[in-house]
Amino acid sequence: MIKVTFVTNNCKVVFAPENSNLLRVSLREKGGIPYKCGAGLCGTCKCRIEQGLEHTDAIKEKERKHLSDDDFANGYRMACQTFIRGDVSISWVPKPAAKPAMAVAKECSAAIEGAFSALPEELRRNMLEIGPVWAEDIVGHREMVIDAYTPVLANVPREGIEVTRELPYGPHPRHRLDVYRQAALDQAAVVLFVHGGAFVRGVKDTSAEIYGNFARYFARHGCVGVNMEYRLAPEAAYPGGAEDVARAIAWIKENVWEFGGNPDRVILVGHSAGASHAAAYVCDPAARPAEGPGVAGLVLMSGRLRADARADNPNAHGVRAYYGADESLYEVRSPVTHAERLDVPLFVAVAEYENPYLDAYSAEFLHRVGMARKRLPRFVQLRGHNHTSIVAHFDSGEDLLGRELLDFIAHPA
Ligand code: FES
Repeated sequence: MIKVTFVTNNCKVVFAPENSNLLRVSLREKGGIPYKCGAGLCGTCKCRIEQGLEHTDAIKEKERKHLSDDDFANGYRMACQTFIRGDVSISWVPKPAAKPAMAVAKECSAAIEGAFSALPEELRRNMLEIGPVWAEDIVGHREMVIDAYTPVLANVPREGIEVTRELPYGPHPRHRLDVYRQAALDQAAVVLFVHGGAFVRGVKDTSAEIYGNFARYFARHGCVGVNMEYRLAPEAAYPGGAEDVARAIAWIKENVWEFGGNPDRVILVGHSAGASHAAAYVCDPAARPAEGPGVAGLVLMSGRLRADARADNPNAHGVRAYYGADESLYEVRSPVTHAERLDVPLFVAVAEYENPYLDAYSAEFLHRVGMARKRLPRFVQLRGHNHTSIVAHFDSGEDLLGRELLDFIAHPA
């Protein structure tokens, strides 16, 4: 028997014989996949194979009427046309329906619990508990998140994903990056990840799995994932971090074709202080290259987009180390000050539970870009998650944010 997990139906688990039709299993076991015709005509049963895509049979002609090559590459199938040979997890877009407020509230709370669906039950409860008190012990809670996700990520299959490590992109020992990709790529989008660490700490591999998990997730979905390290303050003060992003992008432009990447489709992703460097590289005149940033999109995750040394900023010492002791310069050195200059597609993500003010600074950045463009850029607030898990959960099997980012990469706007 094989295991079928209906992710969208509160992760309901059922068992079925090998080579079962997916829609029939759903109907028999009340799995919940929507359907109308059952014959490949209506397109209603579109669903996503979250895990176990390799256990599905060949794509049928009828499916091609409803799904694109990109959809297939992202794991979408028509349930009524798909037979399964091994364990799979399935999700789909639920049908909207008017519901009483209490029922909606219950669903919201289930969605928050689904935030940590890749973790064992006890760890999931821990993560849900630390969210509301995240800021009371950021260092301790961060360690809990890393410790929770590292063993889970260690068990994620990685066949077919090649990793080339410690490639130098500059003269400093921290000018190193790792490249994640599948073989035989051609002109694939390139996702460059810039880690955080309050400007004074942080490495590209903070554990054996994190932050490589971020690059690996995108490699799994047909991109070239690049995970970079950079110099820290006070050795490399403002705008040293953004200058290192520039170096890494210059390296990508010159070398990524060897890994099957397209140098004209670089998506720059920064987390926390890494988002400060990424945003500064794209829009701060002190760091932005004269010829333009040369990226196809910018993703800012939980970014410190305003320099502040407030008493209630637990990382104020890092801000001072990077931006300098003269706080009168903070305004002009803050990425948010230059947001209106942004001339590339933008995606902003924050966790529900952030380090103090980071979500508000992201909102400020979004507002300024939105006013300049007369349209708000793409934005996600990831329910239940915290400042660290917003990155640590990538490639764990839970990928609400991952899918949003894949869509942004496919259709940056
Ligand atoms: S139910 Fe109509 S296409 Fe599958």
